[in-house]
Amino acid sequence: MIQHAHQVAVGKSESMLAASEGNVASTGEHIAPAPRISVQAFCEAVETAAAVQAASEDRRLAKAHVKIQMGGANAAAEAYRNSPTPNVILLEADARANEILLKLDQLAEVCDAGTRVIVVGRVNDVLFYRELTGRGVSEYLISPVGTIDIVRSICGLYSAPDAKPVGRIIAVVGTKGGVGASTVAHNVGWAIARDLSLDSVVVDLDLAFGTAGLDYNQDPPQGLADAVFAPDRIDTAFIDRLLSKCTDHLSLLAAPATLDRVYDFGAEAFDSTLDSLRSSTPCVVLDVPHQWSAWTKRLLVSADDILMVAGPDLANLRNAKNMVDLLRSSRPNDHRPYYCLNQVGVPKRPEITPADFAKALEDQPLAVIPFEPQIFGTAANNGQMIAEMSSSHKTAEIFRQLAKMLTGRAEAKRTRGHLLTPLLAKLMKRSA
Ligand SMILES: Nc1ncnc2c1ncn2[C@@H]1O[C@H](COP(=O)(O)OP(=O)(O)OP(=O)(O)O)[C@@H](O)[C@H]1O
Ligand SMILES: [Mg+2]
Repeated sequence: MIQHAHQVAVGKSESMLAASEGNVASTGEHIAPAPRISVQAFCEAVETAAAVQAASEDRRLAKAHVKIQMGGANAAAEAYRNSPTPNVILLEADARANEILLKLDQLAEVCDAGTRVIVVGRVNDVLFYRELTGRGVSEYLISPVGTIDIVRSICGLYSAPDAKPVGRIIAVVGTKGGVGASTVAHNVGWAIARDLSLDSVVVDLDLAFGTAGLDYNQDPPQGLADAVFAPDRIDTAFIDRLLSKCTDHLSLLAAPATLDRVYDFGAEAFDSTLDSLRSSTPCVVLDVPHQWSAWTKRLLVSADDILMVAGPDLANLRNAKNMVDLLRSSRPNDHRPYYCLNQVGVPKRPEITPADFAKALEDQPLAVIPFEPQIFGTAANNGQMIAEMSSSHKTAEIFRQLAKMLTGRAEAKRTRGHLLTPLLAKLMKRSA
């Protein structure tokens, strides 16, 4: 019965009223993917049906089965007279408050225990909310609803506040080989763990040549290869045993960096490893090698956030543009991929300026990291992070800021902000 369904505090519903809903997840918002649930939507407006359809194609509902039909509450009551109700019923009701409540009472008679009900309507009234929550309605959304509102409310049903934190996956990838993507991933992962005290795992997906073990000065006997070659054994406990602890909050799922095997994988090879990490670790940083294969594409498309690392040249710019275009069209309800520029200001090298990058990509870089062979070279050879060598170094501060921005701890202000302006000014002076 609906009466038994999960209830949402009225206060939350009221705050939902006030929230201004966009059609894209706002920066820092984390919507955990829904489990394998069945959802049936009964819409009245074609716009609502279109929003639910788009939501059903969102990556966070990839495991859910979503069916959509028109006809609103009447169709719902009819549909379930003789058949079991799904995990979630999404009901659009354009009628007045009293009529909606009447229809919900009819639906309650045919609703199975455990079925959660989301109502979409036009009535904007606190007393009405109370009536709805009193009847066990889990969520009430005021129409018109956007795609991300639907995604958020369905996923929200399955991420109760007392559930274990579900991890955010941040994929870091280079727009060309050797641009420093791994270096950025490792330093940012380290900063997330150290400065934000978020439990983090860095996953080195460059199985043949990965450098995370070297960079963190670790030589673990086991790592990612043990998981990917034994998919049947994967569960949280198994993955936990493969992690090597680098600092208080940071662990590494290392690459073997050996060549006795080849590493040709199918698209889904890393799914269960990442699902397991996601369910247990608040922040997962993927060091994705610069290659384009079924599995690298899938990792990028399914990540919560993407940071592209680009060098300041034409090939990087072209590749960055192609990646942004592809990823934006595959993830229409997500924030676009972020990018940073790295190794900027190599003496005597002609470079494409951050401003030209920003213009071509129609987006400012999250950071501009200068080329500093001395400190980066020493850090790499010592198996240390930049902040371990010199916590007050300006590059260490850039990695701290990146950590904050990527975990939603800071407004993702772009480089126009105070942090990078002096660096840019310095670089200009240097190249002048
Ligand atoms: N800002 C920088 N200044 C100077 N050197 C840097 C900088 N960033 C990275 N490096 C150096 O560049 C080299 C390549 O870095 P890294 O291995 O992180 O690149 P990558 O993009 O991951 O490469 P691959 O394509 O092999 O995965 C390393 O020696 C690293 O220390
Ligand atoms: Mg790398």
